[in-house]
Parts: sequence; C-alpha cells; structure tokens
Amino acid sequence: MSEPRLDVSVILPTYNESENLPQIIPMISAALRDTNLSHEIVVMDDHSPDGTYAVALSLADQFPVRAIDRVGLQRGLSAAVIDGFKAATGTVVAVMDADMSHPIAVLPDMVKRILDGSTDIAVGSRNVPGGGAVEWPWYRRLISSTAAWLTFGITPMSDPTTGYMAVRRSVLEFDRYNPIGWKIVLEIVAKHPQADLSEIPIVFQDRQFGKSKMSLKEQRQYIRHLLRLYDEKWPSLFEFLRFGAVGATGVIVDTIGSSTTIFFLASVFGLQFQSSWAVRESALILGAAIGFSLALTSNFFLNRNWSFKHGAKLPLGSSYFRYLLVNSLGLWLRLAVVSVLAFFFTSIPALQGINLIGILVACAFNFVGIKYWAFKKRID
Ligand code: GDD
Ligand code: MN
Repeated sequence: MSEPRLDVSVILPTYNESENLPQIIPMISAALRDTNLSHEIVVMDDHSPDGTYAVALSLADQFPVRAIDRVGLQRGLSAAVIDGFKAATGTVVAVMDADMSHPIAVLPDMVKRILDGSTDIAVGSRNVPGGGAVEWPWYRRLISSTAAWLTFGITPMSDPTTGYMAVRRSVLEFDRYNPIGWKIVLEIVAKHPQADLSEIPIVFQDRQFGKSKMSLKEQRQYIRHLLRLYDEKWPSLFEFLRFGAVGATGVIVDTIGSSTTIFFLASVFGLQFQSSWAVRESALILGAAIGFSLALTSNFFLNRNWSFKHGAKLPLGSSYFRYLLVNSLGLWLRLAVVSVLAFFFTSIPALQGINLIGILVACAFNFVGIKYWAFKKRID
C-alpha cells in the first residue's frame, strides 16, 4: 500500500536565516500538529554562508523537516520556491518567509480551506480588513501600494506582492512558470485565473534577526515580471504599443537621415545650394527619400525582433517584401482617405483633423497587415 499523502508541505525559502529557523520551525510544526494536519517543512536554502542548511538538518531530528542545499541550481527566491513545490509531497503546498514576518496562526486555516474544497489558492493579504503591516515607514508603504496598483490589469488580488500562500498542488503546472524574480505568488495567481482564490488577512511583522534581501535589483525584476505578465494577458495590445513605439523611433531615424543628407548635399553644392531652387528641391527630396527608407528599414527590424512575437523566426526576405507592400498600401489608403474626406470639408482645422484620421487609418491598416500577414506565423 502506498503511503497516505501528507496534508501540507510548507516551503521555507532561506538565505541566511540560521537564527530564525530554530524559532519558526517548532512554531509551524506545533501549529499544524495542534490542528491535526500531517505535514513536512521543506527548507530551500540557496547555500547560505551562515550555515542555514546545517541548522535545518539539525532540526530534522525533532521535526518533520527536509532541507535542500541548492548548489548548482538557478539561484533566487522564486526558483527556490518552485523547486520546493516540485519536491513537495503534500496535497497542499504552502510558502512563507522564514523570518517570522508572516503569521503562523492563520496557516492551518489556509490549508483547511483548500483541503475541504472551499478554495484552490489562499493568499495572505495585508490589504483586506484586518490585515496590515506593523511599523512600516511611509516610503515602504508607498512602494508597496505602488507595486500593488501596477497589477490592476493582471489580477484582482488586493496584495499582489505578498509572499504568503497555500495552494492545492494539483493546480500547479510547473512548465508555465517563469522563476525569475521574487513574486512567485503573483506568478501563480496570474497564471491560474480560473482557480478559486481566497484572501486571508495578515499583519506583516518586521523580522527580528538578520536582514531583508529585498534590493533595487528585485524592484527592477518586478517591473520586468509585470511587463511579461501584461504581455501574456494582452498580447495584441502590447504588440500594438510596441509597434507604436517603433513608429516613434522611425520619426527620429527619418529626421536624422534626411537632415544628414541635406547637410551633406549642401556642403557639396556650396553656393549653388543658396542660388538654385532646383538644387535645394532635389536635395530635400533625396533627403526625404533616404530618411524615409532608413526609417522604414529600421522599423522593420525593430518590429521583427521586438514588437511582434515570432517575427524573428520567419524568413527575412519574404517578411520584408510583405512589410514593404503593406506599408505602400497603407500610404495609398492614407491618401485615399484624405482625398475623399477633403471633398466634404474646407476649414483648415478640419483638414488637419482629416490628415490625422488618414495617419491613424494607415497605422491601423499597417498594424493589421504586418501582424496577420508580414509576420504571420506560417506552418512550414
Ligand atoms: N532560497 C532563497 N534564495 N531564499 C531567499 C532568497 C534567495 O535568493 N532571497 C530571499 N530569500 C528568503 C529569505 O530568507 C526569507 O525567508 C524570504 O525569502 C523573504 O526574504 P526577505 O529578505 O525577508 O524579504 P522581505 O521581508 O524584504 O520581503 C518580504 O515581504 C515582501 C512584501 O513587502 C517577502 O515576503 C516578499 O515576497 C514580499 O514581497
Ligand atoms: Mn522578511
């Protein structure tokens, strides 16, 4: 007969937490034992120099502790937690900070809600009634609330930067997570919008021993993490925004290309440039043609390698050809729109508005043509 599954595996990611483990492990174990939850505590240590791993091992005599010394693996909080979830044997897996910032008292409740089927994911939240953080200075509160607000398009959870969670292990799909950064709770909640989510109020305590590993690097990673999640949730919108940004760089490339050409021709033709309108006209037209071609080409490469997901995986020549065709059609469309509308309107502001409409129509046309034709994923 196979061994019955444990109710819960509690993952403790650690880096230099040797002073905290002897306190937190007995407390977690006692809280779960008192509520009749069979459990293991999995310490995922990133080879801390302070001997956290050895401390974890020594606690394994008295408590159901497993310790993993993560050498030669991808470092970092999320990577450690994901590996811990994989190694876990419980029906429920939980993660919490090892420095006693997260209240242990609510852990049994989080686990039971999952075991009895009332939810799939329970997260500890500082931003629901009854939750909060003790003694946080105003700037840390500001950072935390800004970080939370930035997720408005990704998840409705009230405390998206929390590090405290319990989840039904069968919900997890390991090959869908990106282990970069710190926000493993956000990553999992965002990737499982169908799962039932409950928020449990927690008051975040400051650590007693050791120091926080939160750094500017983590905050930059967080922004990258958010961009990735937004991109996955609204792929076309973000393709369009990148396409627009590339268009803006095109204006700059065009300006630099054409003014350089004009400058060059002006110095070659010297006095003739001042005296002959034909020379100036030709120089300007050549400048415009060169600037435009440069911008068209640089836009192409930026769109191919950045704006559109699989642009770079397609053959260059045929994409470029299609891209040029779409752009020329877009230009004709713009002129057609402007000509038709100019028939009905006469005032200057109206004509300027018409010009803008022409530009927008061409942009939309180009975007659709490029996305669904020039950079369309073809099956070969
Ligand atoms: N294995 C591993 N590897 N563990 C790590 C690493 C790492 O690179 N970095 C940090 N940890 C562990 C710490 O040892 C601790 O147990 C936990 O992750 C949280 O790290 P802290 O350094 O205590 O972070 P914090 O208190 O600043 O941040 C906490 O609160 C934030 C909310 O304001 C965390 O819970 C964050 O996830 C949370 O966003
Ligand atoms: Mn902490």
